[in-house]
Amino acid sequence: MTLKIWIFPVIVATSVATVLASPCSMQNRTSNLLNCITGIKTRFMDNDAFWFGSQYATRCPLKGASYDPKCTNLRPDTADSFGTRFFQSSAIDSLDRYLSVRFESIGRNYTGCGTTFTWDGKERVNIDVDPLSDDVETPWFVRNTPNITWSSNATDYYTLIVYDAGYMICHGLYVNVRGNDLSSGQVVKEYHGPKRSFILQNPYIFLLFKHSQPVNVTAELKNVILNPNWS
Ligand SMILES: *[C@@H]1O[C@H](CO)[C@@H](O)[C@H](O)[C@H]1NC(C)=O
Ligand SMILES: *[C@@H]1O[C@H](CO)[C@@H](O)[C@H](O)[C@H]1NC(C)=O
Ligand SMILES: *[C@@H]1O[C@H](CO)[C@@H](O)[C@H](O)[C@H]1NC(C)=O
Ligand SMILES: *[C@@H]1O[C@H](CO)[C@@H](O)[C@H](O)[C@H]1NC(C)=O
Ligand SMILES: *[C@@H]1O[C@H](CO)[C@@H](O)[C@H](O)[C@H]1NC(C)=O
Repeated sequence: MTLKIWIFPVIVATSVATVLASPCSMQNRTSNLLNCITGIKTRFMDNDAFWFGSQYATRCPLKGASYDPKCTNLRPDTADSFGTRFFQSSAIDSLDRYLSVRFESIGRNYTGCGTTFTWDGKERVNIDVDPLSDDVETPWFVRNTPNITWSSNATDYYTLIVYDAGYMICHGLYVNVRGNDLSSGQVVKEYHGPKRSFILQNPYIFLLFKHSQPVNVTAELKNVILNPNWS
């Protein structure tokens, strides 16, 4: 079975940042895709990009022993990049195309934990996830299944995994997707957005694997994925 991966972080936390110029903006990835993909590969191996990387040792000198939720880390001693957290470092070499992830949301104000959170009157929000930007999205705006597309042939098989890369929890698993029609796949776990909010800026990763044959989802795998302790 050949595996190919496409990887995209969306960072989820407390504030919506402004959009910065990026090699992976819609305009730039259309005119120079290679530049965007090179940027993703570099970021994938950057162990200073997220909280569980090299910043972790200074942020959490007690390595989680303080019971601070910001310090909960299943790999406290590794100063991870995405590459070391999930794969052998060479896995990213097979990245060869762009995975477009777009969230569409209606804004609103809501009350939680005794506070009213307002979104500055923002009503409709479209988020074209840019894997190279430091934009931070709130859980509210990424709660619905995004529109996910990629270039493919109709007879290809793909598996899409959405994963909370910080706390290492599966947020969606679709297997045996034909072409890029997500609805054609077997839904092992439906996408759900972040539940814990306002702890820290935490990246979510979208991984797409191409495979030459359909894969079988075993009962054992289902049990792990659907375990409520890991949802
Ligand atoms: C595209 O990239 C160029 C330089 O690489 C940058 O100056 C420009 O702002 C980018 N455009 C967008 C829309 O991000
Ligand atoms: C949210 O609150 C802001 C500020 O009070 C207000 O301008 C906006 O209209 C509110 N939006 C909604 C959807 O209620
Ligand atoms: C998702 O995006 C594709 C490509 O831009 C578009 O053709 C399709 O209509 C979108 N689907 C939804 C449900 O918005
Ligand atoms: C679709 O298949 C053709 C023929 O095998 C191949 O050349 C092309 O790269 C494929 N396209 C994608 C997007 O995988
Ligand atoms: C998947 O399961 C079916 C039915 O048990 C079996 O025929 C097939 O060979 C299996 N495929 C793989 C890739 O294991």
